[in-house]
Amino acid sequence: MAANTVAPAGAGWLRSFGAWIDERFPMTKLWNEHLAEYYAPKNFNTWYYYGSLALLVLVLQIGTGIWLTMSYKPSAAEAFGSVEYIMRDVEWGWLLRYLHSTGGSAFFIVVYLHMFRAMLYGSYRKPRELLWIIGVLIYLALMAEAFFGYLLPWGNMSYWGAQVIVSLFGTFPLVGDALVEWIRGDYFISDITLNRFFALHVAALPLVLVFLVVVHILALHEVGSNNPDGIEIKKNKGPDGHPLDGIPFHPYYTVKDLFGVGVFLLLFAAVVFFAPDLGGLFLEAANFEPANPLLTPPHIAPVWYFTPFYAMLRAVPAFAGTQVWGVLVMFAAIALLFFLPWLDRAPVKSIRYRGPIYKVALMLFALAFIMLGYCGLMPAVQPFKTLSVVGTIYYFAFFLLMPWYTRIDSHKPEPGRVRS
Ligand code: HEM
Repeated sequence: MAANTVAPAGAGWLRSFGAWIDERFPMTKLWNEHLAEYYAPKNFNTWYYYGSLALLVLVLQIGTGIWLTMSYKPSAAEAFGSVEYIMRDVEWGWLLRYLHSTGGSAFFIVVYLHMFRAMLYGSYRKPRELLWIIGVLIYLALMAEAFFGYLLPWGNMSYWGAQVIVSLFGTFPLVGDALVEWIRGDYFISDITLNRFFALHVAALPLVLVFLVVVHILALHEVGSNNPDGIEIKKNKGPDGHPLDGIPFHPYYTVKDLFGVGVFLLLFAAVVFFAPDLGGLFLEAANFEPANPLLTPPHIAPVWYFTPFYAMLRAVPAFAGTQVWGVLVMFAAIALLFFLPWLDRAPVKSIRYRGPIYKVALMLFALAFIMLGYCGLMPAVQPFKTLSVVGTIYYFAFFLLMPWYTRIDSHKPEPGRVRS
């Protein structure tokens, strides 16, 4: 079968049907532009699995979410019971719920690795700045989606977690109290809060996410993929106009990505079937008890994927009786990501050709982020308090000093063509 045809040869009626559609909708054109004739660098490595895996998890979350919604009741009186009902009485309900809860954590694992890949190979640099910015917007939408979803089981950690996060907005001077009331829709986290979080979780944010992911892929296909060598394959084209170091995405990378999907599903299934709470990391113990406004859990911590930022929040001591500085530091830590394409001044993109300063700085950054995540899971006692301060200072130094150390760092010359 030619790479650029959709209908299999021999199936005459199918080909005529395809032609009928093509006259009315650009099916073959889209297939060719984005798959069969989308030339991707031939040297993708395992770091390049995570984009397609993020797509897979997005589809999984939407699919399982729709089915969960069929039996879930978004009311303070019934929510916790309806989740128990899904777990015990709905056919395959336990599986749907564990796929969805494990999928939430898997989403962040895959997206963090996907973002780290971009930092390894300088994929955020020109001409991919907008692609990166759209990625950061996806990350923000994903955090909001996870936060709203966490209230829905109406467990005690759902309740108190939402209480802590929502009250952070109350630290802003003048508007704080009004803002918190506006977010909750009430004077406390209540039925009305649950209802609006439900609407945002099942309708608004999934739409935003899907929209952003489509734009992300369109932006990627406009500029073309980066690769582990960080050099532009479009600079070396053959007589047919195709990049000499490029191969059609389909079938080469569709097959490669399917292998990644297989490995991912094995690991994912191991968690879903053998350790769905992953020792309290994916599903916290306090959330197996119903929400109780009179009983604060002994140790309130958000789910692991938020804890690096939670540690930063706690690292900044209350200033003049307000936590507002901690809140600002936390938001600034995320906002800095938007500026990354302009902070990095190295003459080369990929870690392969960068000097020792960036290599060490990036490895320490990954370690600091993991350490912050661990500190955020722990109670605010020593040594976690000091480690959180060290991690926060390093996080900011990594970004803010980048224009300086990427310029003075040495580098190796990039090769003219990608290494196979
Ligand atoms: C729902 C979440 C996301 C999905 C479904 C998604 C999907 C994809 C896909 C399919 C690719 C092409 C394959 C690949 O390079 O791995 C890609 C590339 C890319 N994504 Fe994402 N992405 C997501 C989130 C993010 C985030 C949060 C960022 C950064 C903040 C980001 C930044 C990038 C960059 C820079 C590239 C180009 C990489 C290169 O060519 O080297 N993405 N994304």
